[in-house]
Amino acid sequence: MRYELCASQDLPEGQSRAMKAGDTKLVVYHLSDGFYATQARCSHMFVSLGKGKILKDQCVQCPLHRAKFDIRTGAVTEWANFPPGVQILNVVRGEKALETWPVTEEGGQLYVEI
Ligand code: FES
Repeated sequence: MRYELCASQDLPEGQSRAMKAGDTKLVVYHLSDGFYATQARCSHMFVSLGKGKILKDQCVQCPLHRAKFDIRTGAVTEWANFPPGVQILNVVRGEKALETWPVTEEGGQLYVEI
């Protein structure tokens, strides 16, 4: 199903924003080559990625344990590694990619297909 998100000019390049599409919470990102959407919460311990840091390699870094995900695919590029010792938790919270959805821009509006 297709949902309208916001005006594309309201999400400048290099920024992201937590949004909702129907019942689905997501984070929408504006990268140099377009717009992308991932699930709203980190797959490690479910912290909001809305406050995640967008890195130069087009990954988002979780603010809690610093897992990194490829925004375009949701793939894990580095699993939770902070603070030292969190690796013990990782025994039960193994690597898991983020769900992603395609975002399109039409007439100055952003849409996501869920
Ligand atoms: S909650 Fe995101 S890395 Fe732990």
